[in-house]
Amino acid sequence: MSKIGVLDSGIGGMILLEHLKERYPMQDFLFFADQIHSPYGSKSEDELIEIVNRNIAWLKMQGAESILFACNTICALNPSRISKDLPIQRIIEPTCRQLLDQDVHSILVCATPFTVKKGIYPEIIHRLLKEVEVESVALPYLCRDVEEMTDDRLVFEKLKNDLGQYVGKMDAVILGCTHYPAVSHLFKQLFDVPVFDSNGIELVYSSLGTGNVQYVTTDSAEIFDKQCSKLFKTDIHSSKVEL
Ligand code: DGL
Repeated sequence: MSKIGVLDSGIGGMILLEHLKERYPMQDFLFFADQIHSPYGSKSEDELIEIVNRNIAWLKMQGAESILFACNTICALNPSRISKDLPIQRIIEPTCRQLLDQDVHSILVCATPFTVKKGIYPEIIHRLLKEVEVESVALPYLCRDVEEMTDDRLVFEKLKNDLGQYVGKMDAVILGCTHYPAVSHLFKQLFDVPVFDSNGIELVYSSLGTGNVQYVTTDSAEIFDKQCSKLFKTDIHSSKVEL
């Protein structure tokens, strides 16, 4: 029986987890929302390494046998600086693989400032698809807007402002932050092209459990439960951990 630790700074990883729960109903998960450190995408590599290695150690102590980085930002960290205590699955390459059977020549990647700065999406996309143009845009406000459930109209104005110049010029858009699918309808309103994210990726889970899912947050459990019930229309009961 194996429990998978799923790690993100908050709601974004929950969106991915909701998809995983549907596809792998007998898998046990321990979801870790590191909301006290949100947004990850505005932090430095040194800060993130320290936070992530501490979280991995905690998840191991709770019996996780592997960890899914349900967060593009921490997937962009230098792997040699990440704890080797547990096997880690990352989501950026599987996200990019969805482009392989698509007729695309220009791709817009929207992600956190950290992910964009690391250039990991263009690197992986160019490894998979030689002749494509990749543009990357950082959206420093969007993780917080999703966490705070900012009004759609305000978010749409910001997206239009930052991404308007790419409308009509790209063949596909990648949402390179797990928070962004919460507002994928706004990206689709702006762009008339396919929008990809990490929710469709294939993950291989070999041993199954009982379908037990636990939730923890490093900030207020009450607020996290409310955010989840608003967004997913299901009630969860998380607990707060202090690390
Ligand atoms: N959801 C995460 C990602 O995919 C992190 C967002 C953040 O905390 O900045 O990058």
